[in-house]
Amino acid sequence: MLKTESISHSYGEGSAAVTVLDNVSIDIPEGGFTSIVGRSGSGKSTLLSVISSLLKPEQGQVYFKEKEITNLPGSEIDRLRKEEFSIIFQSHHLLPYLTAHENVLLPFLDRLAPANKELLERGRECLERVGLAGKEDRLPGQLSGGEQQRVAIARALVKSPSILFADEPCGSLDKSTGNEIIEILHKLNKEGLTIAMVTHDRVHASMAKDTIELEDGKTI
Ligand SMILES: Nc1ncnc2c1ncn2[C@@H]1O[C@H](COP(=O)(O)OP(=O)(O)O)[C@@H](O)[C@H]1O
Ligand SMILES: [Mg+2]
Repeated sequence: MLKTESISHSYGEGSAAVTVLDNVSIDIPEGGFTSIVGRSGSGKSTLLSVISSLLKPEQGQVYFKEKEITNLPGSEIDRLRKEEFSIIFQSHHLLPYLTAHENVLLPFLDRLAPANKELLERGRECLERVGLAGKEDRLPGQLSGGEQQRVAIARALVKSPSILFADEPCGSLDKSTGNEIIEILHKLNKEGLTIAMVTHDRVHASMAKDTIELEDGKTI
């Protein structure tokens, strides 16, 4: 579904440039659960930014559904991000003054009218899929850390993406709450969602169908 060919990227200019990705070629199959694992600073987040089209690599190509997306114009990248790609991070980035249900519906802000029953219902369904039925009207401050992250997952699901990217989704959670988040991601994957997840947790990484290991910007 998503492939890279010989991606290289560095930060900084001239003699201060530091190579962060070095000739990285990966393949994320449709319906797969791929983990990207490695120590802090190994280039995981940079690679995720490249494959989710947030960052244009200095060298190499990215392909999505057989089509090269490395040099797409901004409008087409916007469309990909709006319709095909969803991303969750270590921090959930929920808006504190909106309820769980309202936060989940944020991707539809441009299409949302109070009477749009179908979208309102879709938001509720996504909260149910992550185990939050009955908590739709809570504010983030009235939810636990794990529940807040589930709201962020529901918000990532609401537009029915082709692929979900996750960058250390358990990074700010305790161990057992983190394991619950991983369980939810595996359930969503069984339901057909393709997932690419960055983690430094080897146990979480080993549960994925495929594992890509990075060391100093290279796959090993
Ligand atoms: N925007 C940036 N500017 C300069 N250096 C960066 C930037 N982002 C990351 N780096 C550096 O690139 C290396 C890889 O970072 P990153 O991809 O975030 O690794 P990881 O997610 O595996 O911890 C690190 O040494 C980091 O300090
Ligand atoms: Mg990182």
